[in-house]
Amino acid sequence: MVNSAASIDVNDEQRSFLEACKIALEDGSFKRAVFSSRAKGNDKFKASFDLILGEKRKFIRYSTNQSSVDETNELDAHTLKEKMSSPEISPFRAATLNTGSFDLHYAENRKMVPRLYKTKASMKDVAQTHNKQKNYALSEDRPFLKGLGVSTDGGKVHKKHYPKFRQIANFVEIIDRDIGAFVQSTDRPISILDLGCGKGYLTFATYDYVASRAKMQPKASGVDIKTNVIDLCNTLARKLNFDGLVFKNARIKPNKPEPVDILIALHACDTATDDALALGIRSDMEYFFCAPCCQAEIAQQTETSTKGFDLINAYPLMKRRQADIVTDTCRALLLTALGYEVKFLEFTPLEHTAKNLMLVGKKSDTVNRQKAYEEYLKLKSDYGFTKHSLEENLKDLLAEPTP
Ligand SMILES: C[S@@+](CC[C@H](N)C(=O)[O-])C[C@H]1O[C@@H](n2cnc3c(N)ncnc32)[C@H](O)[C@@H]1O
Repeated sequence: MVNSAASIDVNDEQRSFLEACKIALEDGSFKRAVFSSRAKGNDKFKASFDLILGEKRKFIRYSTNQSSVDETNELDAHTLKEKMSSPEISPFRAATLNTGSFDLHYAENRKMVPRLYKTKASMKDVAQTHNKQKNYALSEDRPFLKGLGVSTDGGKVHKKHYPKFRQIANFVEIIDRDIGAFVQSTDRPISILDLGCGKGYLTFATYDYVASRAKMQPKASGVDIKTNVIDLCNTLARKLNFDGLVFKNARIKPNKPEPVDILIALHACDTATDDALALGIRSDMEYFFCAPCCQAEIAQQTETSTKGFDLINAYPLMKRRQADIVTDTCRALLLTALGYEVKFLEFTPLEHTAKNLMLVGKKSDTVNRQKAYEEYLKLKSDYGFTKHSLEENLKDLLAEPTP
């Protein structure tokens, strides 16, 4: 159906969604609206409108992720209404409006049949008591945050756990941006695997995120070698009635595939990251979110090597950091060679952890696999190492990458 004012084709559900955004702006209940679309032949476009309550004034922050870097500017309410109906945003494929009293979701299935539905408000007055600069997509009073001891029984984040909350909330924003449309449009239970899950902060957060948006309950597993955390996590999952979530005491093995949609591996030590990624590849993962940790493998092999950049090699600390960068660049190239579109993000403020680099990827038919593999081999030879665990784990699949 045609929206004559803006001359843009929008269907009835999209029109109702835009109308609800306008009403929420007018009655002051608007918190956030996120739109994503897939223009022909292009990357998914994502735009978000966030109400920011500053010390002196409130304004809407408009961000897009057309590149992996956010472009941000401020909009007044009038410009905002126009922007939402502009060809840049509409017609969209998926969208969520957060208001003070409900969330409204617009989703399309694979056959592009639209659906508009409401859920409970997930963003009340989020995080403004401790942090006035940012509205998080995660509400402080989610039951799993209370169960993990991050929030009080009254639903406020404990002051001392604010950095942890920020890390979890940032992670939820990242997955929302990258998998929001997939979660809303998928007609089967989505599978989630968190390898090296530790206390399960991100496993619970991802399960909670998917369960509250997907059409069917997800199936999720957290895996860790530590028995005590696994027992605690299983107890909490049962208490929260997260029926599709189990935690397993096991070592990450790259050769035991089960189908996986979303793979998470945050700070699994050294080459455990490569084992996790290799398992994900063999499980045909759709998306991965992976933060590497203590990349020692290449640093050890190149300790006495003079290859690389001589000036950097003169300083041991710089040489070590360079080896970290080479390790992760190789991961990105190998993942591309195996058919994934890969980007790097900084997922949490540096003051919280220096290990804030995240590799994010999704399956893609259009990446140049052959070129990425050749670039990997060149980097390996130029930099002078012989073994990278991700390559070792997946040699059979890398033998002849398809262009
Ligand atoms: C630094 S913690 C991170 C925990 C969690 N991913 C997070 O970000 O909150 C790393 C976790 O990985 C687990 N781990 C390391 N190597 C592993 C392996 N090979 N198999 C399973 N778990 C592993 C450790 O026991 C630890 O709980």
